Amino acid sequence: MKVVIVYHSITGTTAQLAEAVAAGCRSVTAVDLQLLRIKGEDITQGRYKNSAVLEAIDQADAVIFGSPTFMGSVSAQFKAFADATAGDRWGEQLWADKVAAGFTVGTGYCGDTLHSLHYLQILAAQHGMLWTGLDLAGAGDVKAPNRLGAQAGLIVRAVDGAIEQPDLQTAFYLGQRVARVVSRSTRQEQQTERTQ
Ligand SMILES: Cc1cc2nc3c(=O)[nH]c(=O)nc-3n(C[C@H](O)[C@H](O)[C@H](O)COP(=O)(O)O)c2cc1C
Repeated sequence: MKVVIVYHSITGTTAQLAEAVAAGCRSVTAVDLQLLRIKGEDITQGRYKNSAVLEAIDQADAVIFGSPTFMGSVSAQFKAFADATAGDRWGEQLWADKVAAGFTVGTGYCGDTLHSLHYLQILAAQHGMLWTGLDLAGAGDVKAPNRLGAQAGLIVRAVDGAIEQPDLQTAFYLGQRVARVVSRSTRQEQQTERTQ
C-alpha cells in the first residue's frame, strides 16, 4: 500500500500535523509512506515544477493533502502545486479511484478554515478521487479528538505556533482511517480478482 502526504508548511504547524497523520497510517499496517513537502523554490514564475512529487502521487493508492489556511483558503504554494496537477493527469483522470483526505490549520477560532478543506475536497473530486472524512462526532469537548467538529476532514487551530495534543490525536486518527480504508479496498480488489 502506497500513501503520499503532500503538504505545504511555512512555520511548521501543518508539518506537525503531516507527521501525526503519517504515524497514524503506519500504526495500522506496513505502508510505503512518503511525506512530500511543497517548497517555494519548486515554484518558478508562479508554476510548480517538481515532477517527482507528481510522479509519486501517480503511484500512490492514497493521497492526503495538507495546507495552512491563508486568507481563507489554501496557501498560494499549495495552489501552485494543485494547478500543476491539471493537464493529462486531470484530462485522463489518471488519479481516479485513489483514496483522498485532507487537513488544514489556522490560528482563528473559525478562521474560514473549512473553506480550505472544501477546496481540498474539490481538488480530489476534480481528479475522481474518493474522499475520506472523519467518522468522529465532534461533541464539543475541548479535550477530545475532533474538537472543532469538522467531518469533511481535519481542521486545527494552532496555538502559539504549535499543535495541541487533542488535534495531534485527531491527525493520528485520520491517518489510521485512511490506511484502514485503503487496506479494505485493496482486499476487496484482490477478492474480486480471485473470483473472476
Ligand atoms: C498570509 C497569512 C494568512 C493567514 N490567513 C489565515 C486565515 O485566513 N485563517 C486562519 O485561521 N489563519 C490564518 N493564518 C494563520 C496560519 O494559518 C497559521 O499561522 C498556520 O499555523 C500556518 O501554518 P504553517 O505553520 O504550516 O506554516 C494566516 C497566516 C498568514 C501568514
